[in-house]
Amino acid sequence: MSTTSIAGATALVTGASRGFGRSIATALSQAGAQVVGVARDKDQLGQLREELGGSFIPVAADAAAPETAGLLIDAYRPAILVLNAGAAPLSRPLHQHTWQTFSRNWEVDVQHAFRWVRESLLSPLDPGSCVITVSSGAALRGSPLSGGYAGAKAAIRFLTAYAADESDRAALGIRFRCVLPQLTPATGLGSAAVAAYAARQGVTVADYLSAAGPALTTGQVGAAVTSLVIDAGYDKGAYLLTAAGLTPAP
Ligand SMILES: NC(=O)c1ccc[n+]([C@@H]2O[C@H](COP(=O)([O-])OP(=O)(O)OC[C@H]3O[C@@H](n4cnc5c(N)ncnc54)[C@H](OP(=O)(O)O)[C@@H]3O)[C@@H](O)[C@H]2O)c1
Repeated sequence: MSTTSIAGATALVTGASRGFGRSIATALSQAGAQVVGVARDKDQLGQLREELGGSFIPVAADAAAPETAGLLIDAYRPAILVLNAGAAPLSRPLHQHTWQTFSRNWEVDVQHAFRWVRESLLSPLDPGSCVITVSSGAALRGSPLSGGYAGAKAAIRFLTAYAADESDRAALGIRFRCVLPQLTPATGLGSAAVAAYAARQGVTVADYLSAAGPALTTGQVGAAVTSLVIDAGYDKGAYLLTAAGLTPAP
């Protein structure tokens, strides 16, 4: 796919109501795509529709629900699918989790990625389509205050690689890429995690952030995901995303 072929293409972004997803939807829209944004909060989606105009179609739905992926893939036939939706993990040490809080990101993030990736292969999406899943840098090093979050995000990286292999085996021509953003205070989810880790270390949020170095912005996430979509030169299965940009994930 070249930079010209994104113009007029349909992109579907899950978790588009705020945070990274909102920025990804905005960047894809500015690059010329017709963007379908999926999230549960109708009001926030409505605000984005006001900002982006007719190039943005809001769809209020639970992206992890059994019927959502199949229905929306049939309805919109996206050439670009960004699976970004994710639950905010409860920031507590392991023993203060229940199984329900520990498994929250498996029930939402992994279940949603599994259902949409599966439907992408079964449908299948058209040759030349691109599916991007959002994992996390936590998948590489763990996240001890986030219950099952890091394992869930590692599972998303694995299932993206499995899907890429199935696409190749069946010559479907669908590109699957996984992006692993570093922790950033730029979103509600990230700022809660940063506050928890700062408190754990007994330092202020400002000191924690200054030790962590330059923080990833939502604008950088939107731009990086757009680059992964339009530039087939990004030919690795998974990329780490920091404030310095995209690098192949180890
Ligand atoms: N921020 C970070 O530091 C960071 C780092 C690495 C990876 N990530 C990952 O990046 C993704 C976006 O995170 P964020 O920081 O932008 O978080 P955020 O600001 O909390 O946004 C999460 C988005 O996911 C949507 N969502 C959650 N559950 C959903 C469901 N069942 N169905 C549809 N939409 C759902 C939310 O919309 P509604 O509530 O309206 O449904 C919202 O739009 C997540 O997968 C997260 O794990 C974040």
